[in-house]
Amino acid sequence: MYLRNCWYLAGWRSDFADGQVHAVTILNEPLAVYVTGHGKAVALEDRCPHRAAPLSKGRREGDDIRCMYHGIMFGPDGACTELPGQPVIPPSVCVRSYLVEERHGGVWVWMGDAALADPSLIPDFIGPDSEEFAITASHLDIAAEGQLLIDNLLDVSHAPYVHEATFGAGDRKTIQMQIEGEHQAVTTRLARGVHIERWHVGRQKNPYVPDMPSDDLVINEVNVPGVFTLRTRCYAPGVQQRCGADGIPAEDPILERSVGQVVTPVAPGRCKLFFAVGPWARRAELKQRVFDIACEAFQEDEAIIEAQQQIIDKTPDRPMMTLGMDGPLVRYMNIVRRLKKEEEGEAVAA
Ligand code: FES
Ligand SMILES: [Fe+2]
Repeated sequence: MYLRNCWYLAGWRSDFADGQVHAVTILNEPLAVYVTGHGKAVALEDRCPHRAAPLSKGRREGDDIRCMYHGIMFGPDGACTELPGQPVIPPSVCVRSYLVEERHGGVWVWMGDAALADPSLIPDFIGPDSEEFAITASHLDIAAEGQLLIDNLLDVSHAPYVHEATFGAGDRKTIQMQIEGEHQAVTTRLARGVHIERWHVGRQKNPYVPDMPSDDLVINEVNVPGVFTLRTRCYAPGVQQRCGADGIPAEDPILERSVGQVVTPVAPGRCKLFFAVGPWARRAELKQRVFDIACEAFQEDEAIIEAQQQIIDKTPDRPMMTLGMDGPLVRYMNIVRRLKKEEEGEAVAA
């Protein structure tokens, strides 16, 4: 169940910097995405209305795209700008031009009702344009339903198991304190997502900096349609005893890092995981290390989710279970159901 009245990440801005027209699929809808000469990202329906040839296989002519089947040309607004051999252009010869926003170093496309598009609905996110963090951004193509990846992001309780070797640094004590921390996570409902906070107290090993025991405050949010942010603030051990009554540490962390992930459902059984990760800009020397570990960890997620998808495909009628550890997922899906109902109500009213 995917929402339509949301901004979906089509790609990082740098993915489209080559001047080419890119074929992008979101919610099973083919888009042709490119950047105009004035630097504005455009997303057109990737289907010529004449005989359904993809415009992404067309030719850029200035800011227009010419369909390279029979030569019809379209502008960034989707209107036909040239119809070979026919001076009068029927208004039906056009393609949908999607609303696009560039934010956090990414290109976001509104897949729903254009009248309801609100750029403020793009969640906060630390992307490759951040000045505070030294971010590297990339993506993975995953052969699994996007919802399975969203479930995974809502469930940090998988980290000590799936990411035993990476985020857990292969250390038993570190893994145990992660498990305990996750059991005490506090989840708060947001208008369009959930906010989860927990302490990981007594981290022995850190995969980024050798010999740096720490107590970590781990704060993450997941907002529709699948935008995950996680900030890990590593403090000198014992910080909780030095916190004020509000539980907020007065001291600066010794290290902070950010992990952002965005799920874009591509088609049934396929999705993209976009990620942007990095340490504080002041510890930019750790940038490559944080990226390498994140890549390894996301491949660990990819492996378990693709394996899960294969079992689901073989046992499509068997339900899954919901247990105590699935609390954030349950809360998030309640929000999605409410927003979906609103969408359907709006669609009926329209
Ligand atoms: S299919 Fe595009 S011009 Fe004919
Ligand atoms: Fe994971």
